[in-house]
Amino acid sequence: MLVSAKEMLNKAKAGKYAVGQFNINNLEWTKAILLTAQELNSPVILGVSEGAGKYMCGYTTVVGMVNGMINELGITVPVALHLDHGSYEAAKKCIEAGFSSVMFDGSHYPIEENIEKTKELVAICEAKNISLEAEVGAIGGEEDGVVGSGEVADPEECKMIADLGVTMLAAGIGNIHGKYPENWAGLSFDTLDAIQQLTGDMPLVLHGGTGIPAEMIQKAISLGVSKINVNTECQLAFAAAVRKYVEAGKDLQGKGFDPRKLLADGVEAIKATVKEKMELFGSVGKA
Ligand code: 13P
Repeated sequence: MLVSAKEMLNKAKAGKYAVGQFNINNLEWTKAILLTAQELNSPVILGVSEGAGKYMCGYTTVVGMVNGMINELGITVPVALHLDHGSYEAAKKCIEAGFSSVMFDGSHYPIEENIEKTKELVAICEAKNISLEAEVGAIGGEEDGVVGSGEVADPEECKMIADLGVTMLAAGIGNIHGKYPENWAGLSFDTLDAIQQLTGDMPLVLHGGTGIPAEMIQKAISLGVSKINVNTECQLAFAAAVRKYVEAGKDLQGKGFDPRKLLADGVEAIKATVKEKMELFGSVGKA
């Protein structure tokens, strides 16, 4: 059964570790992530961007697939199905469709409008026991056509949004989606520290988990980050493994063209990436 991310994140914040949000793109992705979470006895959050939701034939299809897998694979660790960077409309659609968690990304609105829309969603989510992530200070980089400029959030604005009663808060601290450029300045720990001082127990979310060095991840967790989002890194690992398989000519040997064989190394690569992240985030054994 899908669960809200509230309990797992509050436990993570108190226990000084982070739960990974791994974005899903299809059946193989979802299965790989769920099996790894179960094997490592770790809570997990499956992230679905609006683009990925469309690609997978809509939110109800995603809910059906994930619920089916939880049953068929005997998954007993806590799993939250979460809308990633949703618009106000998409958040409502996902709530209707059966997601257990949603993110409303109002970071591109003026703060007053972000507050207004977040407030409405807080009421809806509370009534349905669905966790809600809000965002202050756009995350840089490009994801599914959503481009952010990599702002650093204003801690006072973070407090205003946190006080609305959201479950978790994403705040820009110099993090960006996708690969980090050579000249990246790194995470702004002063900002993170200021945000955590003002928001107290609120679980903080670090987007753009791909490519952040291990020491920075650990420091971020020590300063209140309890959810870390990873997407690109699984995609890169998958693509590299499938490329290797094809370049070795394996698809031309016997029944190597069978998609179950063609994609198998890619699936193993996703599992290895998720395992590495769960170990780094400290969520192993915390289910
Ligand atoms: P990366 O693709 O950089 O890992 O970021 C994922 C993310 O933050 C999803 O919201």
